[in-house]
This record gives sequence, C-alpha cells and structure tokens, in this order.
Amino acid sequence: MQSVLITGGNSGLGYQCARVIAAAQPQWHVVLASRDRAKTTEAARSLTAETGNANIVAAELDLASQESVRRLAASLKAAPPLSAIVCNAGMQFTDLKFTAEGNELTFAVNHLGHFLLVNLLLSHLSPPARIVVVGSATHDPEQFTGMPKPDYRHAQNAAKPELDVDAGTAGRRAYTTSKLCNMMFAYELSRQLSVRGDNAITVNAFDPGLMPGTGLARDYGSVQKFFWRFALPVLRLLPGVNSTSRSGENLARLVLDPTLEGTSGKYFVGRKAVASSKESYDEAKASELWASSLEMVSLA
Ligand SMILES: NC(=O)c1ccc[n+]([C@@H]2O[C@H](COP(=O)([O-])OP(=O)(O)OC[C@H]3O[C@@H](n4cnc5c(N)ncnc54)[C@H](OP(=O)(O)O)[C@@H]3O)[C@@H](O)[C@H]2O)c1
Repeated sequence: MQSVLITGGNSGLGYQCARVIAAAQPQWHVVLASRDRAKTTEAARSLTAETGNANIVAAELDLASQESVRRLAASLKAAPPLSAIVCNAGMQFTDLKFTAEGNELTFAVNHLGHFLLVNLLLSHLSPPARIVVVGSATHDPEQFTGMPKPDYRHAQNAAKPELDVDAGTAGRRAYTTSKLCNMMFAYELSRQLSVRGDNAITVNAFDPGLMPGTGLARDYGSVQKFFWRFALPVLRLLPGVNSTSRSGENLARLVLDPTLEGTSGKYFVGRKAVASSKESYDEAKASELWASSLEMVSLA
C-alpha cells in the first residue's frame, strides 16, 4: 500500500494535484492536510466521488503550530509508509504577523512547519520516494513578479524580522523570503540525502506560475482581492499565468512520472527543469538555515 501526503490539499493547487494523483493511482492513500477540517473533509469527499479512489482522507494540520505538525507526523507513522510528500500549503499576508511560538507567520507556515514535518517523516518514507516543495518565481529577484525582493540574512532574522522594515512591503517580502527558504531547504535536503547515500529519496522544488483566483491572497484588502479573484484570471492566456488544474497536473507529475525517478535537487517551472536564483544555490546560507531551523523546531 502506497500513500502520499499533500499539505494544503483542500483547495487551489494542492487540491488539483491530489485529484491527478488520486485518479492515476486509485490504490494509493491520499492524505490531504490543512487547518479547516470541514473544508478538507468535503475536499476528500468530492475527490473520492470524482476519481473513484476510496482511500482519500482528510487530516488536520496547522503548520504554524509545531505541536500540530508533531501530532500529524505521529498519526501518519501509524499509517502505511509514504511514497511522497508534497509541501504545498502556503500563505501570503500584507503585514507581519507572529505565531503563538513567536515566529513570523509566513516563515513559520511556508518554511518552518514543512521543515519539521519532513524531518519527522523522513524515516517513514518508503523508497523510492519523492519530496516536492512548492516554491515560487518570487524567490528570484531577477524575475519580474511585482513582488518585493526576498531579504534573507539569516534564519533568526527571517523568524523575527526587524519591525522597522517598510510596513507597506514587509508582509509580501516575508512571503518571497519564505519562498527562497523553500528552495534552499529543498536543495539542502537533496544534498544531505545524497551524501548519506539515500539516493532513492529525491527532493525537487516547483514553481506553479501565477495562478490568480486561489486563496493565497485571502488576507489582501478588498480592491486587491477583487483583482486577484476576478480581473487577473482573464490574463490566463499570458505566459507564466496558469490555471490551478494545469499547475496541479505539473505538480502531480513530479510525484508520478517514472522518467523522473532519481531526479533530485532540481527546480521545475511547469514541466521544465530550470535554474533558480543565484542565492538559492548558496550552500553556506542553506546550511545555516538548516541548522537554525533544527534549533527552532527543537530537533537540534
Ligand atoms: N497562487 C499563485 O499564484 C501561486 C504562485 C506561486 C506559488 N504559489 C504557491 O502555491 C502553493 C499553494 O497555494 P494556492 O495558490 O493554491 O493557495 P490556496 O488556494 O490558498 O491554498 C493554500 C492551502 O494551504 C493551506 N494552508 C494555509 N495555511 C495553512 C497552515 N497554517 N497549515 C496548514 N495548511 C495551511 C490552505 O488550507 P487551510 O486554509 O484550510 O489551512 C490551503 O489548502 C503555496 O505554497 C503558494 O506559495 C502560488
């Protein structure tokens, strides 16, 4: 029995990725993990009806809470081993917010929660297994995305950014910085597995392209939200602008495609492996992020 865990599987990109995997592998257990229990249960029900896969389950996960991450990891360890983990859940805020544990919320959800979850579940992966981390073009200052450039100095600063930073961009900069952390995490884990000789567990990063209309901008003001939900989707014919179903297929492919067996440490934009930002390959920064993250989640 094989299983796959998809964080943020109750909507947007994660839901579409789950749909493709559940339909392609009707015997697989597909675990959708998000905060909103009712929405996740309904997502599992509708995916079961649509794909015929009777093994789709809803799980509760709040990546902002290390206790919640540990609870999910413990419950999954009692279930069939995992063939894949898709680190997809993500949030974007306009302002800086902080978790109960005192870490900046975007960094905590997009990076730290996934870092803890994957580390806790590494021993529960059944090789050959795949880990896919959803990043974003916004991690790369060379790409025109309309977002502030990431500002990664060190993990402590990402977790507790200086509060006198430009209030107008601080929340969105925390997002692009967290997406850079996603890239450095994926590459560092791939390197560590390779050094350990664990080549049957692969780790890749993925950029779905701009997918207007998802819940990612739910914290925005009403005008911005209007554009995100109704105006931007009209631009879907432009390059780099995608529907969630097209990007969901591309994300699912990184889990399913047999020709990608053994491919690790790559960054896929859509279906193509491309180079990510220069900073994302900075091994010293990635290793500092890793060591500090271990401390922040009490795994050091
Ligand atoms: N939309 C875009 O244009 C775009 C572009 C590039 C990259 N991305 C990336 O794509 C991924 C998916 O985003 P999306 O656009 O599909 O947005 P979405 O529709 O809002 O999906 C986000 C998912 O994450 C879950 N989530 C949010 N906070 C969580 C938390 N604290 N703990 C656990 N789950 C949480 C949400 O469920 P609950 O609210 O129920 O928890 C939801 O299922 C993100 O990593 C995002 O950065 C999106």
